[in-house]
Amino acid sequence: MMQAEDSTLDWLAKAPLFSNISRGHLKGLAKSGTTTTYRPGQVIAQQGERGIGFYLVVDGELEVRKNGRRVALLRPGSFFGEMALFDDQPRSADIVAVGTARCLVFNRYEFWGECSKEPEVLRTLMQEMVRRLRSPTPGLSE
Ligand code: CMP
Repeated sequence: MMQAEDSTLDWLAKAPLFSNISRGHLKGLAKSGTTTTYRPGQVIAQQGERGIGFYLVVDGELEVRKNGRRVALLRPGSFFGEMALFDDQPRSADIVAVGTARCLVFNRYEFWGECSKEPEVLRTLMQEMVRRLRSPTPGLSE
């Protein structure tokens, strides 16, 4: 499926996460990504459940909910699922499509196989993960 892989490669090349990686080096990763479309309100990941996906948002907006309360909005170019990628623990938040949304979905073992050799990608993943972990968790202090 040449065409599907081409547009996957375009999305990857546009994402800030891969800004230091050449298109040539993204080809392997493009092969392992699947585009999935979500309905408005669809729950893509559930807090407390296990999941093996790593996701890159390519279209639409996704709400991040912790303990039922919105903590962030993810837009095209952003990613989620990096926490379970690093620690293999259950999802730390719900991810819900606001309107129709589209993501590139990777099996996180395949994603790790492609990206663990790229220090700049790891650094961006970790930097954003730490930023998220530092943000206050609603419902903890009340
Ligand atoms: P993970 O725990 O694997 O699954 C839920 C995801 O929600 C998590 O990885 C992060 O990608 C994302 N997430 C968790 N907390 C926040 C936050 N405060 N801001 C943005 N995204 C978050």
